[in-house]
Amino acid sequence: MYCIKKVTDDLIWVGANDRRLAFFEGVYSVPAGVSYNSYLLTDEKTVLFDTVDKAVRQRFLENVETALKGRKLDYLVVQHVEPDHSAVIPDLIRLHPEIKIVCSARVLEFIKQFYDFDIDSRVHLVEENDTLNIGKHTLKFIMAPMVHWPEVMMTYDSTAKILFSADAFGCFGALNGALFADEVDFAKDYMDETRRYYSNIVGKYGTQVESALDKASALNIEMICPLHGFVWRSNLNEIISKYTLWSRYEPEERGVMIAYASVYGNTENAAEILACRLRDKGIKTVIFDVSVTPASEIVSAAFKWSHLVFASTTYNAGIFVTMEALINDLSAHNIQNRRVAIIENGSWAPTSGGLIREILGKREKIDILENNVSILSGLKAAQLSDIESMADAIGADFAAPAGVAQNNRAALNTVDPAVMFKLSYGLFILTARDGNKDNGCIINTVMQITSSPVKITIGVNKANYTHDMILKTGKFNISVLSEAAPFRVFQQFGFQSGKDTDKFAGNGEVLRAENGIRYVSEWTNGVISAEVKESIDCGTHTLFIAEVNQAFSLSRDPSVTYQYYFDNIKPKPQPPKANKKGFVCKICGYVHEGDTLPDDFVCPLCKHGAQDFERI
Ligand code: FEO
Repeated sequence: MYCIKKVTDDLIWVGANDRRLAFFEGVYSVPAGVSYNSYLLTDEKTVLFDTVDKAVRQRFLENVETALKGRKLDYLVVQHVEPDHSAVIPDLIRLHPEIKIVCSARVLEFIKQFYDFDIDSRVHLVEENDTLNIGKHTLKFIMAPMVHWPEVMMTYDSTAKILFSADAFGCFGALNGALFADEVDFAKDYMDETRRYYSNIVGKYGTQVESALDKASALNIEMICPLHGFVWRSNLNEIISKYTLWSRYEPEERGVMIAYASVYGNTENAAEILACRLRDKGIKTVIFDVSVTPASEIVSAAFKWSHLVFASTTYNAGIFVTMEALINDLSAHNIQNRRVAIIENGSWAPTSGGLIREILGKREKIDILENNVSILSGLKAAQLSDIESMADAIGADFAAPAGVAQNNRAALNTVDPAVMFKLSYGLFILTARDGNKDNGCIINTVMQITSSPVKITIGVNKANYTHDMILKTGKFNISVLSEAAPFRVFQQFGFQSGKDTDKFAGNGEVLRAENGIRYVSEWTNGVISAEVKESIDCGTHTLFIAEVNQAFSLSRDPSVTYQYYFDNIKPKPQPPKANKKGFVCKICGYVHEGDTLPDDFVCPLCKHGAQDFERI
């Protein structure tokens, strides 16, 4: 009997679940099963996105025929040829010999390697950004090599704003009657399996995943349909933000993952004592026995935690077998950006620590603590201090900044404005629209505060016209300036008032985000649209708390920081003329002539206050 689910009015899930598979790809245990997703879009033409594994062939074919309701199948889009998604293509061809197979040249090559049916007579080749109109819907094809194989392609339905993402954003685990991620407690029940899926399946290819994320960020996506796991129709950032972290090998949590390999419990004992000392310092810890826990779970944990400790006994003059497999596995998955500590054990010639160091030392951005703890058979009381030292060294990374010494009470009661310039800020063009009036200004205070939903804060000087427009309309865009931005951009948006000027004059093409507000594409690397949810009066400024409803990348250029602006973009102030008296703005160089400067003076150019002026 068929088992299908409605995704949208004209999109139907025709996949199936498999709970009998012991090892996905023959390696990764899947105790909660796995789903093979396939989707049928019924427009003027019918389009099937990928097929399924042979294990669920019968159910899938029944599902497709049911969803087609007697119509012929016009297109099969093949995004990925790994057999868990392509095994049933030959069956489909037998049932629908008239079908056109939409795929890239690389997919075609792989299909020919795996299968023997005649594909040349039915292939419809597509390249990056090619489109296919099937009635109401237009499909756009986006290459995503190495996410997870080199031929992988994604498809964007620009009509329904759906991304068919192939393996990306998938997870282990059968769907158990649900289809959408918001039908389950995803964070609690599925995020670990999503991370295990990501880290083990595509963890090695962070750069390529980043590149696919960049492409996706330029699209207006309202739904993601992956080939495994749940469909995302809300809170898309919950999964996208994780992929962003994972692709950059950035840890999700500050804490220590300890993995140990112990034959008689002595290495385990050292690992446990270290964990206790770390917990005493308030540091989160997790511990795995690598001989018991599947390597895929430990690889996944290594992608999650910021600090990694490996404790291994020596075996056959090398690393203990299960630990050696794990270390090589982590290395193969390109683990990086981590602080690592090593405990070795050996009754006559401990070598495991040096060998682990040798393997992980070749990885990028792996910082290994200088001193291993080296144990001869079992930890002795005299060596507890070595464990303490290791805990102290790791703990130093978690310690709060030393700050002002307690005996220096005077320093606690002063505010040195120069310290504020040490804060790391970006620089942004803030734009708004009121009626037919577009305006923008430069701000340096944009900060993300939550990820689900994505909320940001911005601080805007009340003297700015843009401030009043946002207060009135509740909407704005942020264009993130890159290091390529020349000084004239800052002059254009920062040193004049929109009340009497058109700041966009001469700006070329009029570009607007979905909210109708202009954004700046030149010298910027990303755009964020947001709607104000709360505003807080902070005296000279208003702090807006806003929910992001659109965000897309424009380039990979680094964002400009406040420091970079001062060091490299802003012209150095010219020495004042000898006969000139007054005060110069340290921010923009504006000179206020006169003997006094009122306390409430605001720079007419950059809107900084009297505290940022110095006497000439
Ligand atoms: Fe789900 Fe890479 O196949």
